[in-house]
Amino acid sequence: MSRIIAPSILAADFNNLGKDIEMINQSEAGYIHFDVMDGVFVPNISFGIPVIQHVKKIAQKPLDVHLMIVNPDIWIIPFANAGASIITVHYEACIHLHRTIQEIKNQGIKASVCLNPHTPVAVLEEVITELDMVLLMSVNPGNGGQVFIENTYKKVKQLKKLIERYNTDCLIEVDGGVNYETGKKLLEIGADVLVAGSFIFNSENPTETIRQLKML
Ligand code: DX5
Ligand code: ZN
Repeated sequence: MSRIIAPSILAADFNNLGKDIEMINQSEAGYIHFDVMDGVFVPNISFGIPVIQHVKKIAQKPLDVHLMIVNPDIWIIPFANAGASIITVHYEACIHLHRTIQEIKNQGIKASVCLNPHTPVAVLEEVITELDMVLLMSVNPGNGGQVFIENTYKKVKQLKKLIERYNTDCLIEVDGGVNYETGKKLLEIGADVLVAGSFIFNSENPTETIRQLKML
């Protein structure tokens, strides 16, 4: 079972972003997680293409781009060109999800779909074999530093069953309120990728925190 830690740079020091990206490069992190927020799909505005283009120049890990935006179809090619290795769109923002997934894969990168806490796993049954990854939100998207929603454990188990039933090698990523306690439980029940923002960047030694998360 793969164990991938994806630090979310939403919690990084933007006055010193280069230094934090270098920390991630030297760490045991597997991805760099980018939270793109448009102020419409979620009640917050974060960053977009220019930040990703700059980070891409110095990043030595795949860019895991989480699009919390409406109408993501028109942004697939620009984010792929900016350097995304994985693009995650929200199920709740996609009218033609099957087409959106194909559009991402047509860019030669990994396609992922995210479910908000209220959205049942079963909605993915018709596209699960098309996906490289599913991102389960364990907080309501829009901010870092929130409390983990316990119901997420049930959804991870349901998703694991769905993936096994279709015998596909889709990864399970979980995002929001991840720490040593929630992270350990998530890995035990089948999560593959842990996103963590505040728990890593607010810690004394982020590199060590990433190493510890990976060893849980
Ligand atoms: C929230 C974002 C998360 C967030 C995680 O909408 O998708 O990636 O930055 O931050 P923490 O780990 O602090 O909950
Ligand atoms: Zn995220």
